[in-house]
Amino acid sequence: MDRSIFLSLALASLLLGVVSARDWNILNQLKALGSSSSPSSQDGIVSSGLSTNLKRYCESWRFNVEVHNIRNFDVVPQECVSHVQNYMTSSQYEDDVERAVDEVILHFGSMCCSKSKCDGMDAWIFDIDDTLLSTIPYHKSNGFFGGEKLNSTKFEDWIRKRKAPPVPYMVKLYHEIRERGIKIFLISSRKEYLRSATVDNLIQAGYYGWSNLILRGLEDEQKEVKQYKSEKRTWLTSLGYRVWGVMADQWSSFAGCPLPKRTFKLPNSIYYVA
Ligand SMILES: *[C@@H]1O[C@H](CO)[C@@H](O)[C@H](O)[C@H]1NC(C)=O
Repeated sequence: MDRSIFLSLALASLLLGVVSARDWNILNQLKALGSSSSPSSQDGIVSSGLSTNLKRYCESWRFNVEVHNIRNFDVVPQECVSHVQNYMTSSQYEDDVERAVDEVILHFGSMCCSKSKCDGMDAWIFDIDDTLLSTIPYHKSNGFFGGEKLNSTKFEDWIRKRKAPPVPYMVKLYHEIRERGIKIFLISSRKEYLRSATVDNLIQAGYYGWSNLILRGLEDEQKEVKQYKSEKRTWLTSLGYRVWGVMADQWSSFAGCPLPKRTFKLPNSIYYVA
């Protein structure tokens, strides 16, 4: 090939790349797809490119939710609902949970409160929904996976059925911590009137032997979850507990004072609790 033709071709494709990358927008892509009438082989290429782009867009949306760059979202963007569903029901999700669990074990290392040395003041905090108990079956049966705002009436009806399975690997982690002589506190944004359903469900799923199950009373219902949870941590600290860490699927479980020594975030891009 003639060198100058080659160069101008290379330059042209480079410019094309720059333009399309800068102008790339998920909604434009969807509009383009929607307006194409007759399917042809070229549409096939376009739509497979689109699904790759959509996958990447949704994965970066999900990632930015996890690292808390994206906050206060009401619903998952419509075009990413199936991506979120695929992830939350995938073995990758389970691997990610397992990795977090491994890191908790590493955090404890050989530090162990042997019964003789133990003063009973070492504490650990777990959230409940999507930390100990999975709400995935609710989202499966309701078919939304964050695509619609959570209907709390329906969600609480589901909680009352006591059918939430444990999140993978969490029963084992829970007991490993408990057997080290560390007291386990469950702090959940579930309402107080769901106590018996919550206790039954936790026990059926394999969790027992916690020191306290803290639910939201009437006086807490007006507060943002992060304020309610930070007040409960303040209370634990005022009793003299050393909080080794908090494990939760929402950033609101870690926010505010007192800061725990470590926080462990489990993946959840279905909903955001402020
Ligand atoms: C929530 O679900 C209940 C029961 O299915 C329904 O009656 C109610 O209208 C729903 N609320 C909203 C805001 O969609």
